[in-house]
Amino acid sequence: MKFRIFAYCAPLVFMAACSQTTQTKSTSAIPQLQKQGTATQMIVDGKPFLMLAAELHNSSASSLEYLKPIWPRLVAMHINTVLTPVYWELMEPEEGKFDFSLVDGQIREAGGNHLRLVLLWFGSWKNGMSSYIPVWVKTNQDRFPRVQDKDGKGVEILSTFSAANRDADARAYTALMRHIKQVDTEHTVIMMQVENEVGVLGDSRDRSEAANKAFAEQVPKELMDHLQQRGDELYPDLHKLWQGAGGKTAGTWEDIFGKGPATDEIFMAWNYARYLDQVTAAGKAEDPLPMITNVWLSGPDRKPGDWPSGCPEAHVMDVWQAGAPHIDAYAPDIYSPNFAQVAEEFHRAGNPLLIVETSVQTADVNVFYALGQHGATSFSPFAIDSLGMPRGGGEMTPPEKLPLTGSYEIVSQLAPLILEHMGKGTMAGVLLAGDDPPQTIALGNYKLELSRPRLRRPAPPPAAAPAAATAAAVVPPVPPVPPGAPQTQERSSALIISMGPDEYLVAGSGGVSITFSPNSPGPPMAGIAYVEEGTFTNGQWVAGRRLNGDENGQGKNVRMGGFGNNGRIQRVKLYRYH
Ligand code: DGJ
Repeated sequence: MKFRIFAYCAPLVFMAACSQTTQTKSTSAIPQLQKQGTATQMIVDGKPFLMLAAELHNSSASSLEYLKPIWPRLVAMHINTVLTPVYWELMEPEEGKFDFSLVDGQIREAGGNHLRLVLLWFGSWKNGMSSYIPVWVKTNQDRFPRVQDKDGKGVEILSTFSAANRDADARAYTALMRHIKQVDTEHTVIMMQVENEVGVLGDSRDRSEAANKAFAEQVPKELMDHLQQRGDELYPDLHKLWQGAGGKTAGTWEDIFGKGPATDEIFMAWNYARYLDQVTAAGKAEDPLPMITNVWLSGPDRKPGDWPSGCPEAHVMDVWQAGAPHIDAYAPDIYSPNFAQVAEEFHRAGNPLLIVETSVQTADVNVFYALGQHGATSFSPFAIDSLGMPRGGGEMTPPEKLPLTGSYEIVSQLAPLILEHMGKGTMAGVLLAGDDPPQTIALGNYKLELSRPRLRRPAPPPAAAPAAATAAAVVPPVPPVPPGAPQTQERSSALIISMGPDEYLVAGSGGVSITFSPNSPGPPMAGIAYVEEGTFTNGQWVAGRRLNGDENGQGKNVRMGGFGNNGRIQRVKLYRYH
């Protein structure tokens, strides 16, 4: 037994120092993003760091008292990074007078709980609107102009066409970054999000005089150069719009992209990008942390203005990349069921995939896909502080009973391996929902077919006493499905790591079965030598049960989601025969 563990587990041993939960902080290295193959890693304290994150409700960070009981709960959920807002209105209640007590309190409490922070700068905009700007900005419309509608009426959205707006925001953000640099010597804060889901709501563009003037001007040369450099690598819709309008290399916005809301959106995207870039650059000059911004997703049957027009949607991300070189990533807020499609769309054109907001209800499933398939830099369900809170009040569900905790626990164990494999083509993720057909992926030396087990519905009661069965007619009993077993879940996911020529690690959520067939020269059939479940303890594989019966269909496949192997890591050793 000992020999087996040594012989087969050696490749699974990795440095305990890589562990996500036992990191010690240093005052030296500034957190940064670093490419690894097709993925981008967060480097914290000089080491790759998998952001198993979660975001608080919008107003939670306005009271340190309110936050007190939340920190230990987050730790118990295996979260290592918390996304939490900094409010311009509370940080600069009077012009030029800053109050950093909320920021300091969060850094102190998070640091004390060995958590990292991503601070969300709720500056000029939050979900398109300017609800978090200080009262001295809100009440001085002449100095701080707003977006105007077609009738010339202002709306509660600061206009991008104002240096006063931009500079006031940049001054506050600069002060924030200077302060963080001074107080946060241990880099509890590892990243900043600049603004939140920016864009014009209610119309496709700002109709103020300044905006109309800019709209009639030539498209800036930097953007035209970028379009020409990217050419047919541009997002298809953008490329089509430009080419459809004649593919010109100079002209006004309508000359270049034609007339209509899509052009208005591109125009706003450019102007938001320029504004945010200057705020971001000013902040980075004080403290060069990675800085990102997030995206309220567009959708079919809607138009710019239904979503914030100008937000860095996938279809205008090229425009943002040209206009905002200081922004490190555009992070989609994925609440829609087409999680995989959105992740795909934002993991292109050099954009690192950071999921900074997603539905907390499906996060326990989607996390395996996001990390496995994309090597996502971060994964972060929104509204974590109310997860487990019963409607109408009452006791919170203990963290250990939450499905998200189970998934994060597993992913924490796998974190060093995920970091090692991300971006290299040796790891995959699959999402399956409802009656989706099986998916086949090629990974390592095998093709893997992943499917959701069919739901077993109770058979109708027999009408009469069954006739005596002959021995030949006796069907083996169907193993019972435990009550509440994940076979009944609508969605399942799997994360698979190819560990060597004939070896895989699999984990996931919900019911999934995996069959293997060869994808490389050699004997034509694949058999399962064995499957074992286990855990990584201090970076070392510790085998549990050996699964070779009903648990894997007597050696036919690997199954997750039943037989007590839900939420476990399984190690699969294959062999070939003819
Ligand atoms: C997306 C925003 O970015 C969050 O701040 C929050 O408002 C959520 N939507 C609410 O679903």
